[in-house]
Amino acid sequence: MAFELLVIVVSYLLGSISFSVLLARLLKGIDIRQYGSGNAGATNTLRVMGKGPAILVLFLDVLKGIAAVWLGTWAGGWGTWIAVGCGIAAIIGHNWPLYFHFRGGKGIATTIGVMATLVFWPALIAGLIAILAIVLTRYVSLGSLIFVALTPVFLLFTGFTTPELWGSLIIALFAFWRHRSNILKISQGRENKIGSKVKEAN
Ligand code: G3P
Repeated sequence: MAFELLVIVVSYLLGSISFSVLLARLLKGIDIRQYGSGNAGATNTLRVMGKGPAILVLFLDVLKGIAAVWLGTWAGGWGTWIAVGCGIAAIIGHNWPLYFHFRGGKGIATTIGVMATLVFWPALIAGLIAILAIVLTRYVSLGSLIFVALTPVFLLFTGFTTPELWGSLIIALFAFWRHRSNILKISQGRENKIGSKVKEAN
């Protein structure tokens, strides 16, 4: 039990490494959480710093999720509560990072890494639909919400373990909670579209 708790704590600490905050500090000497949407994530990095840094942040944030699930799988086996718990812990770390005053991102890139490692096919199909939604609407947040909402639905049509199903539902709840302001802005037609420049946090 102590060992399982340890890998979950390690996953949280890994998730807490906020690459968008670090890269923005390193390259521009700014706190990314004071610009654009105020979110510490790849979408806001694209808005504030451009494509190169955004791709790097996306890659590293996805990698955190993959690494956490691998760690949990190594400790507890495929599709177990430990594997799922480590993934969730990394997302919690990303959203509420220990090293950055608990002010992080919305967890989507890390969620992509977690879901793609845990349940590849449902995540892939949900991801393709999400990308289509982003291309059509230019709302990344809408695509993110579609991704987390559809993954558990498609999971029902493939083989899954109880922790995978509950884990994907918990992760979807986290994502919806973190996107409250985006949902409000979408409903009011005020949401930032990908490609439009915003400087101050809103
Ligand atoms: O992954 C975060 C994305 O869904 C929304 O980001 O910066 O537009 O709030 P942002």
